[in-house]
Amino acid sequence: MLDITQPPSQPLVAASILSADFGAMAEDCRDVLGKGADLLHIDVMDGHFVPNLTMGADMIRGVRRHFPEVFLDVHLMVERPGDYVDSFAQAGADLFAFHVEVCKPMRPGGVDAGELIKRIRAAGMSPGMVVNPPTTIDQLEQGMGPHLGDLDLALVMSVNPGRSGQVFITDVLEKTRWLKERTGPGTRIEMDGGLNIETTPNAVAAGADVIVTASALFGSDDRAKVIVAMKAAGA
Ligand code: DX5
Ligand code: ZN
Repeated sequence: MLDITQPPSQPLVAASILSADFGAMAEDCRDVLGKGADLLHIDVMDGHFVPNLTMGADMIRGVRRHFPEVFLDVHLMVERPGDYVDSFAQAGADLFAFHVEVCKPMRPGGVDAGELIKRIRAAGMSPGMVVNPPTTIDQLEQGMGPHLGDLDLALVMSVNPGRSGQVFITDVLEKTRWLKERTGPGTRIEMDGGLNIETTPNAVAAGADVIVTASALFGSDDRAKVIVAMKAAGA
């Protein structure tokens, strides 16, 4: 099993199963893992934080059953992430990433990130926090800054969350550099949205070391080539 706290020598490629064939999920995952994807990224949407509905504990459990050794990175685009800590841990999630936008102080009366991080660790998972494109560095400093030392991963959204196949938002690179400067070697910087062979080098240069890809990977007729190119982006 991948140790997410170890700095990788090349960017890790996280295959986002949102663009996999839902009717042939295990087969599609086996294909991209065989072609070099390092981990699987599972996008959970609740129909409130974002309009779309996607998958939950049953999908995590199903993927885990087929791939006992593969790192499962779960990205929760949900209003109440605390409701899912125990069920997702039991289903086999390795990393549980929740949005800074649902936490205090950005959301008055919202989630207490410090408490949630403790619960995620106690459940045996790695904690991650996610930031949306419109969230400013000041808001990030207040919302994520105090927790950076406790996180295994900080995830920068490079599209507005909700669906795959959108265009990369270059503005988020500044935030990525900010995060890279403030985190130690044990915290991965992940980027998610609009990443392809052209945009990945900029993401990596800004400090990202985990590259999420849905449409550029699953939609390609040469998936191995996409993965090789993304991993070579740091060289
Ligand atoms: C977007 C999801 C992403 C998405 C990326 O809300 O969080 O993980 O699957 O899709 P692409 O790579 O197509 O932009
Ligand atoms: Zn995602």
